[in-house]
Amino acid sequence: MKSIKLLIIGLLATYALFLNACTNSSSATVQTDSSTEVYVESVEETSVEETSTEKIDEQDVNIEESEAKDSNMEESNVQNENMEETNASEEGGQEGSNILVAYFSATGTTKRVAEKIAELEASDIYEIVPKVLYSEADLNWNDSNSRSTKEMDDPSVRPEIGSPDIDLTKYSIIYLGYPIWWGDAPRIMSTFVEKYNFAGKKVIPFCTSGGSGIGRSGSNLASLAGSGDFARGERLNSSADTSSIQSFIDSNR
Ligand SMILES: Cc1cc2nc3c(=O)[nH]c(=O)nc-3n(C[C@H](O)[C@H](O)[C@H](O)COP(=O)(O)O)c2cc1C
Repeated sequence: MKSIKLLIIGLLATYALFLNACTNSSSATVQTDSSTEVYVESVEETSVEETSTEKIDEQDVNIEESEAKDSNMEESNVQNENMEETNASEEGGQEGSNILVAYFSATGTTKRVAEKIAELEASDIYEIVPKVLYSEADLNWNDSNSRSTKEMDDPSVRPEIGSPDIDLTKYSIIYLGYPIWWGDAPRIMSTFVEKYNFAGKKVIPFCTSGGSGIGRSGSNLASLAGSGDFARGERLNSSADTSSIQSFIDSNR
């Protein structure tokens, strides 16, 4: 059995060698060619792929770089914004500014003007908030029994301030804003000016009103303060634009 198997294997091997001898050159060429073609193609493909991969890689890098740049830009913008905020708060904030806008506003009109001044001056801003806020009924000037009417009828009333105390030492210019109530500054402004020392400081009153001028309200506050170089001050229109507020600032320089 074994010898028959060996014989068959030998015959098959001889036949294979014979076939190979007959077809060797052409098939090798074809194979070479085809394998060359295949190789060339694959080189091209590879190089195309490589090129496109490189391009994609380049693009990716570019995208990544541009994303990185974008993100750097964003970060730097954010930082700039923060810087601006920091600058604003330094120039006009806790650290650097020697200018303060201090104001009381019951219904927001004086607040808007105060914020505009603070913005233009890059100054600090401080809201004088009453410990007990004024309700609408409190502000009814047609009611002789309303809180505001009673307060304005009695010059000795000193409504308590609820906002935290402020250290005025670093400020040399203080804008003092309030609404006109019955031709004068609300009594809480009396509380404020009596509470602090304005010696060596320039104080610039400003007010908003339904039409009345600033009148003697600024000089009344100056008397109560007992210190500080008080300017006469000015009534600012509730809809005062930047240029009119700027000219108010300039006129007090
Ligand atoms: C109790 C009270 C009294 C007022 N008295 C006067 C006044 O005498 N003359 C005037 O022109 N406006 C007067 N007003 C109007 C306010 O001065 C004006 O609305 C002001 O702009 C409000 O400022 P605010 O929103 O900052 O509180 C009075 C308002 C109130 C509530």
